[in-house]
Amino acid sequence: VAITTANSNAVDWAAWSRFFEKRSQRPLPPLDLRTNYSNLPASLGQSLATFQLAESGGGKIAAEARNSRLKGIDKEYAAAIDLFVREERRHANILAMCVRLLGGSLLQRDWTATMFTMLRRIGGLRSKVLVLLAAEVVGICYYSTIASQLQPGPVQRWLLELVNDERAHLRFHCSFLRSQTDTRMKRLLFVGAWRVVSYAAMLTVIVHHRQALRDMQLDFGVVWQRWMAVSQQARRLVVNQVPTTLDAELNDGHCPV
Ligand SMILES: [Fe+2]
Ligand SMILES: [Fe+2]
Repeated sequence: VAITTANSNAVDWAAWSRFFEKRSQRPLPPLDLRTNYSNLPASLGQSLATFQLAESGGGKIAAEARNSRLKGIDKEYAAAIDLFVREERRHANILAMCVRLLGGSLLQRDWTATMFTMLRRIGGLRSKVLVLLAAEVVGICYYSTIASQLQPGPVQRWLLELVNDERAHLRFHCSFLRSQTDTRMKRLLFVGAWRVVSYAAMLTVIVHHRQALRDMQLDFGVVWQRWMAVSQQARRLVVNQVPTTLDAELNDGHCPV
């Protein structure tokens, strides 16, 4: 059943909040110690510890969404973003388990995680979501790239589960940004800002995690191409005026795009 509203930019936030609500029932996966990861480089554990730190923040955006007077934003959106923040904290817990299995240790500080937190705090809801969208692109690409180099086992399984969650987050943020870019001028502004923010995020992560990428035998050019593709997909989801559709997929755990 496709629900198309008169205004194609309007989003059914209640559907998103139900979607996140359902996923919030998932318990943490049990710790599985059967796989031996001693063959993997220490840089990988360190790298994932940085992501663990970056995934553990958040919370202020939910309060901002509750008080927002932006067009098309309602209490259902605020409820959805609150659940989204909790889902990211679950990611932090899963990544902490990955770091432990890889023999690494958790970080208290990291300059890229601090920068990410600071960027999330500046500006209004729209610029915050733009920064979060860049983080989803980074998460999708980084976790899937690393997972592709791992032997089957819990770390690979968990990272792929995270990728699946981040894909839904990407669509969630794109739906929000689409609802906020209802004129040609706003769409142009978004495209410019998105280019700057997504390039900066990708470059920072490639430089900061170059050791782990190199140790995992990943080709920087291939990694960059993948990131560009996902970044462009996000741009298309925002600026191409795709009507909001809801269907039975929602009930199977798929996101309501
Ligand atoms: Fe995440
Ligand atoms: Fe995410």
